[in-house]
Amino acid sequence: MLKKNVPLPLYYQIEEYLKQKIEEEEFEIGKMIPSERELSERFEVSRMTVRQAVTNLVNAGVLYREKGKGTYVAEKKLEQPLKGLTSFTEDMKQRGMSSSSQLLAFDVIAAPRDIREKLDLEEEEKVYCIQRIRIAEDKPMAIETTFMPHELLPNLTEDIVHGSIYQYVEHDLGMAISQARQIIEARAADEEEAEHLNISPHSPVLHIERKSFLAPSVPFEVVKSTYRADRYKFITDIDR
Ligand code: GLP
Repeated sequence: MLKKNVPLPLYYQIEEYLKQKIEEEEFEIGKMIPSERELSERFEVSRMTVRQAVTNLVNAGVLYREKGKGTYVAEKKLEQPLKGLTSFTEDMKQRGMSSSSQLLAFDVIAAPRDIREKLDLEEEEKVYCIQRIRIAEDKPMAIETTFMPHELLPNLTEDIVHGSIYQYVEHDLGMAISQARQIIEARAADEEEAEHLNISPHSPVLHIERKSFLAPSVPFEVVKSTYRADRYKFITDIDR
């Protein structure tokens, strides 16, 4: 029952109720929650109030709506710590999840100007342009476009990038990946990204650009990634 005499808004109390039911797995992932009409009758509140609670949880990625059908419980977002320079393969392994990649492009091209500058290359130097859909447990999580100097990794193959690039660089080539700088921005998915990520166009995505270095300070990759914002949240611990 909702508490009408407390300063917590009714829609907020309904959100808490729904979250608790999801937590307790009474409302299961992928299953429909009770309709707005049922909830408004159960709590004796207006449908507007229920709608506000549900909309807030849809916006937070806890629920999703399917047109003409109903509202469903979304999968939990993956929590990605912003600590430690890890690869996609390592991140998934750490969670006990399988990972794979669908290769969209594997080309050697003249470096675009911004990439050339970021990788400290001369004008005529070539780069790999590798585009991969990164998949966890059969679900697309991100699209990544990786630029790496061709000269640094002359024997890279499509086979290798189907697996882990970091594994190849460190274990097969014996080079040390030492640090990176990462920039995270919010965006709306364009048509192509939406198709590859299996989301509707204009859904929120997180765009991440990472520039990584080999020890002592040789830039070796610039990676532009688009992560599904409904599947990921980034966590950082901060000290004062
Ligand atoms: C993450 C990073 C990328 C990095 C990739 C390497 O996804 N965002 O910048 O290139 O990991 O992953 P893997 O070693 O699995 O190819």
